[in-house]
Amino acid sequence: MSKITAAITGVGAYVPEYRLTNQILETMVDTNDEWITTRTGIKERRILKEDGKGTSYLAIKAAQDLIDKKGIDPKEIELVIVATATPDMKAASTAAFTATNIGATEAFSFDLEAACSSFLYGISVASSYIESGKYKKVLLIGADKNSSMINYKDRATCIIFGDGAGAVLFEPNHEGLGTQDELLRSNGEGREFLQATYGGSSYPSTPEAVAEGKHYVFQEGRTVFKNAVFNMADVTERILKRNNLTKDDISWLAAHQANKRIIEATANRVELEPEKVMMNIHKYGNTTSATLPLLLHDYESQLKKGDNIIFAAFGGGFTWGSIYFKWAYDS
Ligand code: UT7
Repeated sequence: MSKITAAITGVGAYVPEYRLTNQILETMVDTNDEWITTRTGIKERRILKEDGKGTSYLAIKAAQDLIDKKGIDPKEIELVIVATATPDMKAASTAAFTATNIGATEAFSFDLEAACSSFLYGISVASSYIESGKYKKVLLIGADKNSSMINYKDRATCIIFGDGAGAVLFEPNHEGLGTQDELLRSNGEGREFLQATYGGSSYPSTPEAVAEGKHYVFQEGRTVFKNAVFNMADVTERILKRNNLTKDDISWLAAHQANKRIIEATANRVELEPEKVMMNIHKYGNTTSATLPLLLHDYESQLKKGDNIIFAAFGGGFTWGSIYFKWAYDS
């Protein structure tokens, strides 16, 4: 029997209606459209405004979009992974709530947290389950309600992040399509440069910490930027080399959408033409775990069977990596 590879066989997505534009941000903090556009490439982000709705709301919508498009019975799904840095609640799995609400009642489920690399790591985990032959339908969702941990008085972070979700279905493939190779890394020395200090187990929330905004995300942007550029470009270059791929073999770069300049630096390192670089940061900002599936959703109509895609991501922790992937269907 031929080797089983893990292919993506469907994509779904959801972003909230509300658009937080650069013009609106100009009225909230000391910033301007020109600065945000030239420094990040972002024009607007989507924000989930309704009280009581968390990351699972976004995840469920994205998964339902995929289920409707593919016309599958959710009871066939065996595993639901929710890649997220903003789970609904502590001590309760966001994935379990999501799986039940989409009707995946025969599945087991778990959350996967690796900051902005959550979905990238999720590709590795979902692929391993499929390649092992153990499961035949694994749903990987990347979802984040970043607005739940952003201080809208801090111009260093509030201009960057948005809310959104994307979902992909992994199934076995016998033509060698899907996940080919991965290079995943982490370095805990990066933690001090990007974190929400209070509200976790090290420093549980206190009224004083909340009053001082210490439960919000803080980042030392320049340090994160430098590390993102160096590491994302490095693993991308290395995964190409060790698979004997030149830039002409690459159909698409699907890189985490944190800053247009970081994505362009990664593309430049491997001399990839701009038209091969997936980009939607202008519409959604940095949606953390949702950036990669939102790219697949927005570019799905242009993808062809056999296309070589390089996924790349970098995020808090630090966590980062690159995955070489062959697309499995024509839209
Ligand atoms: O998803 C993974 C995690 N996150 C990232 O990958 C993000 C990585 N970092 C970045 O994308 C960039 O560092 C930022 C977009 C956050 C900041 O851009 P930068 O080019 O690194 O700016 P900077 O922090 O070096 O600041 C440059 C100047 C400063 O003014 P002075 O000191 O030169 O007078 C800042 O105070 O820009 C100022 N500034 C702003 N001005 C207008 C910082 N934020 C803003 C703002 N609007 N929002």
